[in-house]
Amino acid sequence: MALQIGVPKETAAGEKRVATVPDVVEKLIKLGFSVAVESGAGDAANFADDTYRAAGAEVVPSAADLWSKSDIVLKVRVPSAGEVSLLREGGTLIGFIWPAQNPELMQQLAARKATVLAIDALPRQLSRAQKMDALTSMAGVSGYRAVIEAANAFDRFFNGQITAAGKIPPAKVFVAGAGVAGLAAIGTAANLGAIVRANDTRAEVADQVVSLGGEFVRVDYEEEGSGGGGYAKVMSEGFLAAQRSMYAQQARESDIIITTALIPGKPAPKLITAEMVKSMKPGSVIVDMAAEQGGNCELTVPDQAVVVHGVTIVGYTDLVSRLAKQSSTLYATNLFRVTEELCKTKDGVIDVNMEDDAIRGLTVIKDGSITWPAPPLKLPAPPPKPNATAVVAPKAHGHGKGEPMSVKSLAMVFGIGALLFLLVGLYAPATFLTHFTVFVLACFIGYMVVWNVTPSLHTPLMSVTNAISSIIAIGALVQVAPPLTGGALNGPIDRPNTLILGLAVFGLALTAVNMFGGFAVTRRMLAMFRK
Ligand code: NAI
Repeated sequence: MALQIGVPKETAAGEKRVATVPDVVEKLIKLGFSVAVESGAGDAANFADDTYRAAGAEVVPSAADLWSKSDIVLKVRVPSAGEVSLLREGGTLIGFIWPAQNPELMQQLAARKATVLAIDALPRQLSRAQKMDALTSMAGVSGYRAVIEAANAFDRFFNGQITAAGKIPPAKVFVAGAGVAGLAAIGTAANLGAIVRANDTRAEVADQVVSLGGEFVRVDYEEEGSGGGGYAKVMSEGFLAAQRSMYAQQARESDIIITTALIPGKPAPKLITAEMVKSMKPGSVIVDMAAEQGGNCELTVPDQAVVVHGVTIVGYTDLVSRLAKQSSTLYATNLFRVTEELCKTKDGVIDVNMEDDAIRGLTVIKDGSITWPAPPLKLPAPPPKPNATAVVAPKAHGHGKGEPMSVKSLAMVFGIGALLFLLVGLYAPATFLTHFTVFVLACFIGYMVVWNVTPSLHTPLMSVTNAISSIIAIGALVQVAPPLTGGALNGPIDRPNTLILGLAVFGLALTAVNMFGGFAVTRRMLAMFRK
């Protein structure tokens, strides 16, 4: 028999999201379920009861009715004790649970013989799980909103402008912690035209920061920041001291700081001290996205925006709720993907398959028994890290890229070159020597040009080389143009035959595409690197 999905109105103070939206209701019905929504559940996210009805859901007047008739309840926030008591015995609950932080809730749910899927327990490392990853989709929304809050509190433009009224410098934004939320903030601030810098203890995010238009600022201290599973670890005191001095400098230079640094299961690291806040220019803004976990800034007041030393410190913990329609839509889609995985037969019946890695990770209680934490995933071993000593070329023969040749070997190369040239000059015909000189110089210049280009610019370099190689156009041009013979500019013109002319024109057209196309592509590629 097809199961009934129920979506109650969220009861947590200030929560505006809803666990499903009308578009997703239609999809759930297509999977074979019937859907009921508590009246007013979507109001705060701008989804009226009628839109749910139009999508095929039944709108139920009260929470008690909704919970009692639902086999599966979809929720956003951790349920209250009152809500748990409404859950049907043996029912299924899908939503945020945070089992490590809520042991009592876990016991209450187990006592209801429930099956509980905690969206926060999803094994995010599985690429198959990405479509269900609500932590990522919510972090993306909050990173975006953090920049919008910063822009709201900041009293200047983000982008630099040159106007008749004067030159406006771009805002300088510093993002501490480049996880999902941090990267979303970097992309948004860069798109608004700010100069964005970012730091993270996990050095592997540097490329991601750059690809979103930011600059990665490193801490001058060697220490691996990964604590496994893509998350950070608590760093050593030495690292933190070096990091503080770098952050102090960034605080002095930045107009806006957005902090997102978190370590799972630990209080947020304190990265921005009161002293750093004091050193910022009046009118600057700090958005502390870690406010709920204690804050990355010493002066953050959770849920409030305060002004200290002329700096606005925003500690809102409801950033996702401030974009309730967007976040509800993304969250509803994540839950739909979970439901789809549970109901592969599309007949409105679920199968909580504990053999499936993603479902196993999500399931924190199965039929009343606590199954959290899930055993660690058996992922393929990461490729071995290259041995540091193996990649460093031995100093004595150091001709590696970026390492200058020793004077001795340079002199030897030049000596051999000069000797070869002398031999060629002595024995080869004069015309050969001219061509040979041009050839050697071309090789030398080509080598110097290519070798000194940073690897990330190799693709634009190839396309520009491609465009330049269309110099063969000259051959076609010679064929198309009338030859100027014997200085007789006004004499009879000796035209090539039509076939050659046609082929030359065709060749010219083709090579023109290559040439102009090549330059156009190079321009576009280089534009991606420009700030
Ligand atoms: P998060 O919200 O726990 O942490 C935010 C960021 O703060 C992290 O990048 C962390 O390295 C950084 N951080 C912690 N302590 C810091 C300190 N003292 N100074 C500076 N930065 C500090 O993490 P989030 O955003 O939920 O995910 C982090 C990572 O997890 C992602 O960047 C990704 O690598 C990984 N992940 C992997 C997925 C996958 O494999 N499919 C999916 C989602 C996330």
